[in-house]
This record gives sequence, C-alpha cells and structure tokens, in this order.
Amino acid sequence: MRKKIAVLPGDGIGPEVMHEAIKVLDATAKKHSLDFNYEYADVGGTAHDKHGTALPDKTLQVCKSSDAILFGSVGGPKWDNLPKEKKIERSSLLALRKYFGFYANLRPAILYPQIVNISPIKGISLNGFDIMVVRELSGDAYFGNSILEEDWASDEMKYTKQQCRRIAKIAFEIAMKRKKHVTCVDKSNVLSSSIFFRNSVTEVSKTYPDVKMDCMYIDNATMQIIKRPMDFDVIVTTNLFGDILSDEAAMLTGSIGMLPSVSLNENGFGLYEPAGGSAPDIAGKGIANPIAQILCAALMLRYSFNMEKPASSIEGAVKKILEDGYRTKDIIETGMKEVGTKEMGNLIAEKIK
Ligand code: IPM
Ligand code: MN
Repeated sequence: MRKKIAVLPGDGIGPEVMHEAIKVLDATAKKHSLDFNYEYADVGGTAHDKHGTALPDKTLQVCKSSDAILFGSVGGPKWDNLPKEKKIERSSLLALRKYFGFYANLRPAILYPQIVNISPIKGISLNGFDIMVVRELSGDAYFGNSILEEDWASDEMKYTKQQCRRIAKIAFEIAMKRKKHVTCVDKSNVLSSSIFFRNSVTEVSKTYPDVKMDCMYIDNATMQIIKRPMDFDVIVTTNLFGDILSDEAAMLTGSIGMLPSVSLNENGFGLYEPAGGSAPDIAGKGIANPIAQILCAALMLRYSFNMEKPASSIEGAVKKILEDGYRTKDIIETGMKEVGTKEMGNLIAEKIK
C-alpha cells in the first residue's frame, strides 16, 4: 500500500541529512517492495523567509493529508532576534505539536558498542546502555500562560490529570516490552505540577504490577544518569525536564547526531525528528551525521506503518556500516575511516540493497 510522507527538511543541516534519509528510504522501498510518496514542504526559518511564516498553511495541509511527518530541524542564529510570537521554534515545531496534539515524545538513547569509545563516560559505561526517555510533550511551561513584560515575566507549568495519565500509560506500555522498569523524574520537592505528575504516574503504575517504578528528582537524575546509565530503562518526565534530560542522555551516547525521536498523538499519528538541532555551525559543509535522520525513517516505518522488517533492516545497515569502521566527523576516532554526509548515506543505502 502506498504511504504518503510529509517531508519537512527545515533549516541548517536539515536538508542535507534529509536527503540521505530519503535515499535510504528509497533503497528500503526497492528492497522490500514498498511504495512511498514524498511530499516536500517548507518549515522553520526557510519558510519564514519565503512565505513570512514558519508554518505556512500549505505545509499544514501537506502534513494533514500524510500518513506521517518526517521532520528535519528548525531555527538558527539568522532568526534569533525575531519577536517572541514569531520565534521560529515556537511558531513551527511547537505549533505543529499543538495542532496535531503530539503528547508523547519518545527519545531512545542507546550507546552503540561500535562507538563506545567516543562516549564521554566510556570508563563507566563500557557495557553499553539503552534508555528510553518518554517526554510529555503537550503541557508544562511550553504551553502554559506565558507573559513577557518590561519588568517581569512568567511561565505557567500546568498539568491536567488526563495529560499525566496518558503519558504514564505510554511509559508503562513501553517498559512492558523492555526491562520493566520506569523511573519518574520530576521536582516534586518544590513544584506543585511535579507533585501532581508523580502522583498520577504512581496511580497508573498500580495497573502495571509487573513493572518496577521508582522516582527521582530531576537534579539528582542528571547526576545518576551519568554515574550509572545502565541502571535506567524507561524514564517518564514532564516536558521541560524531558527536553533537558533527553539531551543529556543523548550526549552520553557520544553524539547527538545518532539519535532519532518520535512524537505521537492519540491516533498514533507521528512526527519523526532527530534529537539534535539544526547545527548551523556545520550546515552546508557536507559533514553532518545523517544517522539520526536515517534512524527517524526507520522509527517511522516501525511506529507509523507497522513495517518492522524494513525498519530493522535500516537499523541493521547502520550498525554494519559502523562495524565496517565508517564515521562522520562527530564520531570519528583514530583508525576509523572518516566520511561525509553523502558518503555515509550512500554506504547505508548500499548496505540495504
Ligand atoms: C526539542 C527542541 C525543541 C524543544 C525546541 C526547538 C523548541 O529543543 O525538540 O527538544 O525545546 O522541545
Ligand atoms: Mn531539546
């Protein structure tokens, strides 16, 4: 069956890495007799420059009529001084999250044995780790009342029972398929919204007696995740803490250029986006790591299209290429072969064929 994919490359390294992800998807389609129809649309600063808005109506229409959204990245220093309501990230990515009701953001952080030596904590983490950060995406300071005045400013961290329970459920369901361990990360020694979140997650945990649940304050969690990353399985947390903690977990794997993420709504519709940003400092140089974007494509096949075999064939190809010693600049070590964005995409696509 033909699957329609909305392709939103965006800014910075977005278009370069997206090009490689599409290449890999094409190779996968050929190999597994699949039919993908791509519809490209502008988003982010690029869209702002062209159409005066970071999320044009046309783009929204393309997304609405698609089976999944493959997203690159948005933003960059060029647009840093726009007024609050025009800010690229707010008016494109956050607007998309709000519009489609993406509430569950899954961010796997896996330390691949092939690149264990580039992890900043290689001494502690030699056995590798596999953490799934389940970030609540629809509430908290991101979507609360936000006021910016001359002499004062405020952001409301609001959560409803329904928001907390549905993300907790996702976390426990995922844990059931993994090591059956959920850690709730919050700041319930200070914040009401955190007390509420923790209580709600604890309530939901009662319906999953096979899953072990523990709780941790965010400040402690940032330390423990460095000290003993292998002790974590699924982390469920609020929007802002999830934003921060998922970046930290990603960096422990050696490079944020390796990690995909998915945002899902209640109908299972998904947006797939690399965990890293638009990396304007290396944009256009042909050196960005396309693996995160390529793994986004794999996650899309798995979660949105239920195509497990093609998804694992992409993931398998990535591992093989790493085993063969090919590395982009961000994950290079002595004795390995350095390749650019395009070459890495070609190698992975070839492996699939
Ligand atoms: C992310 C990003 C976004 C966020 C920004 C670009 C708005 O950092 O997806 O993690 O803070 O959620
Ligand atoms: Mn972030």
